[in-house]
Amino acid sequence: MKTKYIWTLLPCSIVIWVSGCNQESNENVGLSSEWTRTSVGSLDEQAKLQLDSSLSAKQELETTLKANLLASIQADGPHGAVNTCSTIAPQLAKSVSDQFGLRIGRTSNRLRNPSNYTPVWMESVSDQQDDESACFQKSDGTLAVSYPITIAAPCLLCHGESNNVSKEVRTVIQDLYPTDQALGYKIGDLRGWFWVEVPPIE
Ligand code: HEC
Repeated sequence: MKTKYIWTLLPCSIVIWVSGCNQESNENVGLSSEWTRTSVGSLDEQAKLQLDSSLSAKQELETTLKANLLASIQADGPHGAVNTCSTIAPQLAKSVSDQFGLRIGRTSNRLRNPSNYTPVWMESVSDQQDDESACFQKSDGTLAVSYPITIAAPCLLCHGESNNVSKEVRTVIQDLYPTDQALGYKIGDLRGWFWVEVPPIE
């Protein structure tokens, strides 16, 4: 099968949608004392608006990233798309941050780009490989949310095991990201998280 058709054949399985924070975890997970893990049930009205905003921003970034990646794979092939992704992914995160008045990014416990390091408030999420969404609150009223990202078929072109990833793709990745740890995934694996930090609403 030609790789460029993979996206169109698997349109909806790409991401597991997570609509809110894990309701069961309500303990302080012993982070820097500024941040406390919390549950949706205990959020006040203001924080619920922050949560809505985090989800909208996450959906926007996810949709635009996917569309850009698809267009680039079709235009330039997977190895060309690695280059595009390396410049476009950080730009899109910045523009969605500006658009929504918050901070958004992606991270993983196995990074490709070291600039996508894990924010301090979600280190426990990364350490525990938490595959449910989690919410944290800071003493200044900031709400932070993590949304898990799962590997689907199209992701294997650039994150799969060696039989899925072409030599050209591996070469470009090695050039751009000499410390890459993001190969070797299988469908359904937890790849990482979107993270969003929403300031208090005035
Ligand atoms: C065309 C190759 C390509 C495809 C296909 C691809 N990625 Fe990536 N991925 C990259 C590159 C390049 C980066 C580093 C970009 C950056 O600087 O944020 C990256 C970074 C990431 C990151 C950020 C964390 C890190 O390790 O830096 C996540 C999460 C991620 N990819 C998940 C996915 C998922 C899920 C899919 C499938 C829906 C996917 N990727 C498909 C090339 C690809």
